[in-house]
Amino acid sequence: SPSIMENAQRQELGSIHGIPLYSYFVEKWAQVDAFQARPDDLLISTYPKSGTTWISEIVDMIYNDGDEEKCKRDAIFNRVPFMEMSCPGLISGTEQLATLPSARIVKTHLPVQLLPVSFWEQDCKMIYVARNAKDVAVSYYHFYLMAKMHPDPGTWNEFLQTFMAGEVAYGSWYDHVKGWWEKKKDYRILFLFYEDMKEDPKRETEKVIKFLGKELKKEVVDKILHHTSFQEMKKNPTTNYEMMPTWAMDHSVSPFMRKGMSGDWKNFFTVAQNEIFDAHYEEQMKGSTFRCQM
Ligand code: A3P
Repeated sequence: SPSIMENAQRQELGSIHGIPLYSYFVEKWAQVDAFQARPDDLLISTYPKSGTTWISEIVDMIYNDGDEEKCKRDAIFNRVPFMEMSCPGLISGTEQLATLPSARIVKTHLPVQLLPVSFWEQDCKMIYVARNAKDVAVSYYHFYLMAKMHPDPGTWNEFLQTFMAGEVAYGSWYDHVKGWWEKKKDYRILFLFYEDMKEDPKRETEKVIKFLGKELKKEVVDKILHHTSFQEMKKNPTTNYEMMPTWAMDHSVSPFMRKGMSGDWKNFFTVAQNEIFDAHYEEQMKGSTFRCQM
């Protein structure tokens, strides 16, 4: 269909309240702004490439008491709809969510100031996952290459400049993590780190279980940990994004489940890039108590 052909084209980003965003999402912004959160919604919030899919699968497994067959009922992007997503010819995230029974799990990448107010008004529980900026930049570069809704990233060095300038989709990583970090003082936000999840998935998964007010048997926790490991999620068609049409994501360019490790940035940053990045990082994060492992 013509809309599918159109979707295959790379597009320049639009913007909403000064934040760069896919232009299709901007077109349907009114729907997002008016989104009605329910008190029992759980919001999963991340800057892109920070472990969104991983935490989403962990939460859906917890909601389903470790029953992996139930979690294989549909692709992760249908079980945990992407709220602000909109694309011609597809049902939007808000439309998809409206049809879901409670208790919903909602995915967003929005910076804190763009979150629909109903989430604050309803005092929804939220889980934020932060990942170190260097690994995010590397992962995002590969995602730009394989996912065709993005503008052309150019070379790695060009993309790194764009990332540091906050001119990628969803804007500045620095502002995103700082903004959500501040909100956790006043709202029910469980703040997790990708690096901690890699270091001790059991400890971090148990934090999530407790935050959700659940108690699960050791065997159930073990099943969740096995099912949500990188190796398992990489081969699981309902979590590895291979159920997305190839015009949208081309896994032969770079798989969505790429490496799933901490510190891959060391394979991409030159010594010079790293020095510039560190100085810029310090400048951007000055005055914030946010810290993460690099
Ligand atoms: P890499 O590109 O570094 O491999 P998001 O889901 O927010 O888009 O993040 C995608 C990143 O999380 C990718 O990072 C992906 O490989 C990684 N990832 C996905 N599932 C994971 C898991 N179970 N364990 C560790 N990393 C995972």
